[in-house]
Amino acid sequence: MRIVILGSGAGGGLPQWNCGCRNCDAARDGRIPAMSQSGIAISANGRDWALINASPDLRQQLAASVHLRPQRLRGSPIRSVLLTNGDIDHVAGLLTLREGQPFDLYATPAIHAVLAANPMLAALDPQVVTRRDLALDQPFQLTPGLMATLFAVPGKVPLYLEGDEVDTGLMGEQTVGVELSANGRRVFYIPGCASVPGWLRERIAGADALLFDGTLWSDDEMLREGLGRKTGRRMGHVSVSGPEGSLDALRDVPLRARIYVHLNNSNPLVDPSSPERAAAEAAGWQVGRDGMEIVP
Ligand code: MLT
Ligand code: MN
Ligand code: ZN
Repeated sequence: MRIVILGSGAGGGLPQWNCGCRNCDAARDGRIPAMSQSGIAISANGRDWALINASPDLRQQLAASVHLRPQRLRGSPIRSVLLTNGDIDHVAGLLTLREGQPFDLYATPAIHAVLAANPMLAALDPQVVTRRDLALDQPFQLTPGLMATLFAVPGKVPLYLEGDEVDTGLMGEQTVGVELSANGRRVFYIPGCASVPGWLRERIAGADALLFDGTLWSDDEMLREGLGRKTGRRMGHVSVSGPEGSLDALRDVPLRARIYVHLNNSNPLVDPSSPERAAAEAAGWQVGRDGMEIVP
């Protein structure tokens, strides 16, 4: 099994077009690595690939990957695309895949309903791109030799569908984690998750790798930095630090590798020289980088 982190950043990326914060300026000036928006590619055999999430940066991400280049005049090794939620940073890249290339598009019925309500996505001709509904907790073959199972994790509806009242601990088809297995290896990809309940710790224990929501270091960092009015909790993202944060919650869970993905530009972890980065690394975490490859 091989995983390529196509984009390690959260929505907006690093740098974000309209942000002049310390991290965004450092990335603009080349002092810290830039991060494109969230997604991975995965293959069991090196020939047939799946994308999990399709970010607005997908065109550049595909161009940068040796694994994902066409092998003939027209074609692609991408056989399927799987979505873990309906957020813009995970679906807008579907519009990049509109060139008449067949693949299977997998998501829960709730996420497919959101896509179906968007007339622009008719650009993915259903005669060419097959939309397949996935039930939760039912293993299916994502690409040859690669099994995947979706499971609900605490989350919320996409930002653009929020009403006046938002349930940020919703469990259902709106926000899912993915368990992936191939060749005796087991990996979890959970780029958005609002909390770390006990059942989740038990479910992932013993995995060969965990790629987990690293959006924010602290719940109120966007407020404190003057970058926004929302806490991580309100955005449906558990923070890394703090008493309920993922660093503490996952500390004693046995995992062969643990990697933060979906990092927001406000997160001090994006700066390789920050004390927060040193603390996460001391706890056994890696911070995802664009182009990083994981062979569990
Ligand atoms: C999120 O992960 O919270 C969303 O991507 C936010 C957004 O849609 O901008
Ligand atoms: Mn996001
Ligand atoms: Zn910024």
